[in-house]
Amino acid sequence: MATSPRSRVEIRGFEARHYDTLMALLTLGGYQRMLHDAVARMGLEPGHRVLEFGCGPGIAACAIADAIGPDGFYLGLDISEVMLAKARRKCRPFGDRVAFRIQRIDEPLPFHEDFDRVFISFVLHGFEEPDRRLIVRNAARALKPGGAFYILDYNEFDVDRASWPVRFFIRRIECPLAEEFIRSDLKALLSAEGFGDFQEWHYFRGLVRLQRAKRL
Ligand SMILES: C[S@@+](CC[C@H](N)C(=O)[O-])C[C@H]1O[C@@H](n2cnc3c(N)ncnc32)[C@H](O)[C@@H]1O
Repeated sequence: MATSPRSRVEIRGFEARHYDTLMALLTLGGYQRMLHDAVARMGLEPGHRVLEFGCGPGIAACAIADAIGPDGFYLGLDISEVMLAKARRKCRPFGDRVAFRIQRIDEPLPFHEDFDRVFISFVLHGFEEPDRRLIVRNAARALKPGGAFYILDYNEFDVDRASWPVRFFIRRIECPLAEEFIRSDLKALLSAEGFGDFQEWHYFRGLVRLQRAKRL
């Protein structure tokens, strides 16, 4: 399956090699702080099994591994070997209870009720609606009953009424799919795929949302 030409979540070259540094500089460290705060809100317990979709250079991975302790297991999936090499380097101290795999998340995955948590951060907005649905379905299948899916991404807001720097960023720098995602009803999509018991937290003046959805 090929990524939509309207997407920019497949990060390559210089941007992939320096993704975490670029994000830290652009947000004055806010991106890393937000990811660590999101991990702290995931209700992680020692022994949990966690799956991350589009884990990138592993900014969340080590924080998750710390929270689930020596009996836990973390698996990060991504399509970028450059990103995964960085993630593997960062998480080496955790040994084989942290693993990374080259794997597209917009095709059916082989997991079935294997994980307590699924996490996805700034990836879902970069897919066409049918692919977003497939990714949400992959999360539902991978989760144990009662497990939870945590999505960190753009919140729903009126782009026309946002400040000009936000409008400029979304319309000129982000991918065209991002605005469609911002206008879409994420909870309706999650409900249709068997999720409920929603809770959310906001970052960057409400432009970003951490959405919790439990597998019912
Ligand atoms: C914007 S980055 C976010 C990385 C990380 N989640 C974070 O928040 O720091 C998007 C990530 O999604 C990955 N990605 C893009 N398309 C993918 C796909 N079809 N399957 C798996 N990963 C994908 C990219 O390689 C990249 O690492």
